[in-house]
Amino acid sequence: MFGTKSFRQQFPIFQHHPNLVYLDSAATTQKPKMVIDGITNFYQKENANIHRGIYDLAAQTTQKYESVRQKVAEFIGAKHQSEIVYTSGTTASINLVAHSFLLPRLEQGDEVLVSAMEHHANLIPWQMACKQKGAHLRVIPIDQAGNIDLAAYKKMLSAKVKMVAVVHISNTLATINPIEAMIEMAHQKGIPILIDGAQSTAHSPIDVASLDCDFFTFSGHKIFGPTGIGVLYGKATHLAAMSPYQFGGDMIRTVTYQDATYAPAPQKFEAGTTNIAGVIGLGHAIDFLQQFDKKAIALFVKELGAYAREKLLSLNDLTIIGNAQHKTGIVSFVLNNVHPHDVATFLGTANIAIRAGHHCTQPLMDFYEIPATSRASFSIYNNRAEIDFLVDEIKGIQSFFAV
Ligand code: ALA
Repeated sequence: MFGTKSFRQQFPIFQHHPNLVYLDSAATTQKPKMVIDGITNFYQKENANIHRGIYDLAAQTTQKYESVRQKVAEFIGAKHQSEIVYTSGTTASINLVAHSFLLPRLEQGDEVLVSAMEHHANLIPWQMACKQKGAHLRVIPIDQAGNIDLAAYKKMLSAKVKMVAVVHISNTLATINPIEAMIEMAHQKGIPILIDGAQSTAHSPIDVASLDCDFFTFSGHKIFGPTGIGVLYGKATHLAAMSPYQFGGDMIRTVTYQDATYAPAPQKFEAGTTNIAGVIGLGHAIDFLQQFDKKAIALFVKELGAYAREKLLSLNDLTIIGNAQHKTGIVSFVLNNVHPHDVATFLGTANIAIRAGHHCTQPLMDFYEIPATSRASFSIYNNRAEIDFLVDEIKGIQSFFAV
């Protein structure tokens, strides 16, 4: 039923743009009607600030906001809802951990490990922390296909390493990283590890308690929810030991002119009026996703990716970047003699939406010695007919540029 005409009807964007072939879900997913309606309903009927008002409307909104926290905890398998911090997205979640968890523990000469395929959001925060403390950011190598070199990773896990941060699914290569093994290997050396789940949370079953990762991050807008809302999962002991990252209203216990004490986690990390409507929308997005079997979603998206690869590989003068053993429904490719931006522009004129560029993974582009790729990424509303159309249009681009 995924990808069918009736399934797509749940997404109003396709009624407003009947010819849209949306192959950019790694950038952001389209939103189901129930999420859009949920947010509209909140603003029309329930809007009030949280944790502050005594009146009924405020109390009900607070209750709803906090009930989404429990929903998120269950969705990703956290043991307790206090381990769920609302942030503005994956980027904010990682910055919070780099600032509040890593920085106070990091000393000159220490090391932080990231993989060669990290999004800038899971690279620069660690880079900055290392620069600040005279520590070294070391890069876990990958092979040409885009697989992490686990043997090299194991060797890199020395006593100097204070943190590992690795992406679950690469937004550029589609690689599904062996995070279970990576977490276990880090923990054998007592090293905490953060998993960037921005690309995996919509399309893979996640269970942070059984993964045993120290931190896990994801964004609402990549799981059919609104922009501007995301989640940081952190083990309770870590969150308790961390200082707040931002200061202001709603994160305090007591305040005098000279001093302040803070609320326990997660409140101490949620200063100011947070994205309440975003949280409500995130709750509806989780309700939407929970209607389906996560394994079935993962399989559907993976099979779309495999189908696209097979069709694209039948074309001459096209190279797929990212051929790891385990991968999902993201396909990056380059055409000989046609810049990826031209590919995306031409496809855009045929109503096909893909992303072209470095995908916020510039060092990875350097590794492959290319400036950019074109990237098609799939979700549950896509189907094979759209991929056939994509491939036909790429053939058209090739003949146009061959003249
Ligand atoms: N990180 C998102 C992408 O890969 C924006 O497109």
